[in-house]
Amino acid sequence: MKIRFPRHHNLTIALHWTTFGIIIFAVCAVLLRDVVEASEVRLLLLNLHRSFGVVILLLVVARLIARFRISSEHVSASLPKGIRLLSQAAHTALYLFLLALPVTGWLFSNAAGKAVSLFGLVNLPELIAKNRDLADQLGDVHETLAWLFIALIGAHVGAALWHHFWRKDDVLRSMLPVRLLRTLAPINKG
Ligand code: HEM
Ligand code: HEM
Repeated sequence: MKIRFPRHHNLTIALHWTTFGIIIFAVCAVLLRDVVEASEVRLLLLNLHRSFGVVILLLVVARLIARFRISSEHVSASLPKGIRLLSQAAHTALYLFLLALPVTGWLFSNAAGKAVSLFGLVNLPELIAKNRDLADQLGDVHETLAWLFIALIGAHVGAALWHHFWRKDDVLRSMLPVRLLRTLAPINKG
C-alpha cells in the first residue's frame, strides 16, 4: 500500500496508542473500586492504578523526548491556521495533564502515608512526608484534574473523528498504524 500523505513517526504512533491503552486500564482500575466491596481487591485495584499511572509518566517523558528529537513532516502543516493553533493548544494541554496527573497522584499517595511501587517490583522514592491536610488537598486536585483530562480526551477524540468524517482530511490516518490504515480507507471528498 502506497501512503501519499505525511504520517507521524512510527515511534510516536506506538507511544500514542500504548499510552491510550494504559490510560484506559488506569482509569478502569480506579473506577472499578466503587463497585467492588472486598478490601483486598480494592487495594489491588488502587495499586494497579498507581503503577499504570507511573508507567504513563515514563511513557510521556519518552514521548516528549521523541517529539523534540524526531523531525517529521506533519500533516497539520496543511491545515488552516486557526485549526492548527487550536490543535496545538489542545495537544499542549494533553501533555500537561499527562505530566500533572501522575505527579499529583504520587504526591497524594505519599502525603496519605502510602508508598508507591511499580507493580510491587520496584519501590519508588517518597516525594513528600505524610501530611493529612495536604493529602486531602492533593486528592481534590488529582481528582478534579482527572475529570478535566477525561473531558479533554473526549473533545480530542471528537476532533479526530471530525477531521476524518467531516473535513475528510488525513489527520486521523496520520496517527494510525499501517495495518489499520489498510482498513480505514480515505473518505471520498465531495
Ligand atoms: C495519567 C495518570 C492518571 C490518571 C488519568 C488518573 C485518574 C484518576 C481518576 C479518574 C481517579 C478517580 C477520581 C474520582 O474518584 O473522582 C483517580 C484517583 C486516584 N488516583 Fe489517579 N490517575 C493517574 C495517576 C495516578 C498515579 C501515578 C497515582 C499514584 C502513584 C494515582 C493515585 C490515585 C489515588 C490514590 C486515587 C484515589 C483513589 C480512591 O480514593 O478511590 N493516580 N485517579
Ligand atoms: C487517552 C487518550 C488520548 C491521549 C492522552 C492522546 C494524546 C494525544 C497527544 C498528546 C497528541 C499530540 C501528538 C503530537 O503531535 O505530539 C495526540 C495526537 C493525535 N491523537 Fe490522540 N490521544 C488520545 C486518544 C486518541 C484517540 C482515541 C484518537 C482517535 C480516535 C486519537 C487521535 C489522535 C490523532 C489523529 C492525533 C494527531 C493529530 C495531529 O497530527 O494534529 N487520540 N494525541
